[in-house]
Amino acid sequence: MYSKDTTRELQKLTNELVKKQSSGSIIKKDIEQLRAILRFHEYRYYILNDPMIADYEYDQLFKTLEKIEEETPSLKSADSPTQRVAKGLTKDFPAVQHLVPMLSLDNSYNSDDLVDFDRKARELTRIDKIEYCVEPKFDGGSISIIYENDLLVRGATRGDGVEGDEVTANIRQIRSVPLSAKFSDYGLQQVEIRGEVLINKSNFKKYNEGLMEEGLPPLANPRNAAAGTLRIKDPTEVAKRNLEAFVYHISYYSMAKGKKNPAELTTHAGSLKLLWDLGFRSPERERKIFKGIEGVIKYCADFETERDALPYEIDGMVIKVNDIDLQEKLGMTSHHPRWAIAYKFKARQATSKLLSVEFQVGRTGAVTPVAKLEPVAVGGVTVSSISIHNEDYIKEKDLRIGDAVLIERAGDVIPQIVKSLPDTRTGKEKKIIFPKTCPVCESKLFKEEEEAVWRCINIECPAQVVERIIHFVSKDAMDIRGFGEANVRKFYELGLLEDVPGIYTLEVNKISGMEGFGQKSIDNLQTAIANSKKQPLHRLIYALGIRFVGETTAKTLAQAVNHLLDFKKISLEDLQNLEDVGPKVAGSIHHFFSNKSNIEMLEQLEKLGLPLKNQKKEILSAGNLKGQTFLFTGTLPTLKRSDAEAMAEENGGQLLSGVSTKLNYLVVGEDAGSKLEKAKKINSVKIISEAEFLQIIGKK
Ligand code: IVH
Repeated sequence: MYSKDTTRELQKLTNELVKKQSSGSIIKKDIEQLRAILRFHEYRYYILNDPMIADYEYDQLFKTLEKIEEETPSLKSADSPTQRVAKGLTKDFPAVQHLVPMLSLDNSYNSDDLVDFDRKARELTRIDKIEYCVEPKFDGGSISIIYENDLLVRGATRGDGVEGDEVTANIRQIRSVPLSAKFSDYGLQQVEIRGEVLINKSNFKKYNEGLMEEGLPPLANPRNAAAGTLRIKDPTEVAKRNLEAFVYHISYYSMAKGKKNPAELTTHAGSLKLLWDLGFRSPERERKIFKGIEGVIKYCADFETERDALPYEIDGMVIKVNDIDLQEKLGMTSHHPRWAIAYKFKARQATSKLLSVEFQVGRTGAVTPVAKLEPVAVGGVTVSSISIHNEDYIKEKDLRIGDAVLIERAGDVIPQIVKSLPDTRTGKEKKIIFPKTCPVCESKLFKEEEEAVWRCINIECPAQVVERIIHFVSKDAMDIRGFGEANVRKFYELGLLEDVPGIYTLEVNKISGMEGFGQKSIDNLQTAIANSKKQPLHRLIYALGIRFVGETTAKTLAQAVNHLLDFKKISLEDLQNLEDVGPKVAGSIHHFFSNKSNIEMLEQLEKLGLPLKNQKKEILSAGNLKGQTFLFTGTLPTLKRSDAEAMAEENGGQLLSGVSTKLNYLVVGEDAGSKLEKAKKINSVKIISEAEFLQIIGKK
């Protein structure tokens, strides 16, 4: 797409514009250059995964372009980098016809199937050794995109293969899909491209974590998340999900008057290269060409071992006859082309039987139904029990005891029930009845109106107590090694441990002699308990298991007070002024600290030697940074992050864990990300470089 020379030139131009930008002297005349370099940096970031500019610099240039376009609307252009995000909601997704029907692929599962596919292709073409192009089979939602006169004009979902839904506004949000591409350089006038929309594994994980924090069931796999996102009516919401797209097939093209078909389009590999050269993310780097089927078989097997290391999901490989004339000779059935076949990897789905449902009570009292299944191997692990989340989820999936169910374990995602298979029902299946009372303490269950979860609100409920202790000792909380879930349950059942403070009064003499508890493990347990008293305040806050208070919020809370019990006096309003603390989180914190038994427990913990004071705040010396707050982000040019932080503290400064109105200085290094974004929106935060920081502390 960009030669070495062009890359160098654009990089130079970037530096010039960044300088001009900071002195405020970018003008209308620079607009095309500005767009060109923004497109270039998008390409480096979204296609090559190798950025050449700091996010901050990119954002500044982007904003400048936005401003110029706003001031002079006549300069607007449909393919400007600013024109991805549409304003307003999409009304509906009208049905549109694909230029060429989007057929599916035939499947193969082993080398015999592939040998068979090759034999048939050889017989039909009467060719001895066929050349194949092999590439990953991306596991997302299929799309078709049309470009006319170099501009993206339409994007659609697959639908029934003949007609799909027009989702252009959403496809424009996908940064790896160019809004314009120089097809005209190849004489091409109208082009229809097929590809797959994906959400990468880490974005999917984050998305599911968000759903679960809201008490909503997670999605079973990234494929559903990607396909579902394409149908969201708010394009700005779509933009937040960070969709990606691979394109792998040119299904139709027409030539401009007087132009000859480009040589590139005589092979499949040539079309992947053409797309790549035009700035698309085609599998140019992953595809491989083989003469004959033997190499194909080995490549498929090799790629399967790489599957988990990829940042996105693939469910197999696609083997395509490379020569387009040969493809045409082979033609297609009504369902699939005869010139291509999918090679499917080991399934991460399996069917099993739903034997029974158990109801478990969590530390917040939420009652979760857990399906007990006939054990089945999925994606390398045996699954015999799966959370089925809540009553709504059971209704929506129409799950019944005795049902055959399809389960899936996508990558490192927790296994999920995808659906029940009602066609196999015998009539003996039973409805799942949700209990009205807590299965452990038998108190009445409650459900808030806007919630899907039933709760036991008896905080003395033994199930909740045990789960709270398990959370308290867990690795990310107080990290009391040697305790572990099984021991907490055992000690609780034996009456040796009744509540969280009980951890610190545990009578070890009663444990010694118990099976699995030699002197060494008792010593280790005692040391771990003693060490946990030195854990920083934010870990203790997280360990308390206050609803909606995760590790990040716990850090914010720890910074906000001198003593943990100060929260008794902090108003809901003040809580909401803290970073990332919305009304829901604030309400939960307030509720926790208004509860008498929680306060008594904290007082007890303090007496037992757990510091509730914010130690860090006390250490602050009276240096020249007294009262000033700092946060470091990105890679600093000369200082190690930890050293810079220590310098700030030594000089009396205070470190914050996040950007908020309380922050005075954000010290920015290279590749600074979302913190910088946020800081730019708060006028009072001063954004400074390492050099400026050193100046402030008098080291420069
Ligand atoms: S070629 C006529 N190549 O898999 C050409 N499809 O199960 C047919 N898919 O509907 C498509 N990765 O949505 C092709 N590299 C790839 C693919 C791919 C994923 C999807 C595509 C297709 C489905 C068939």
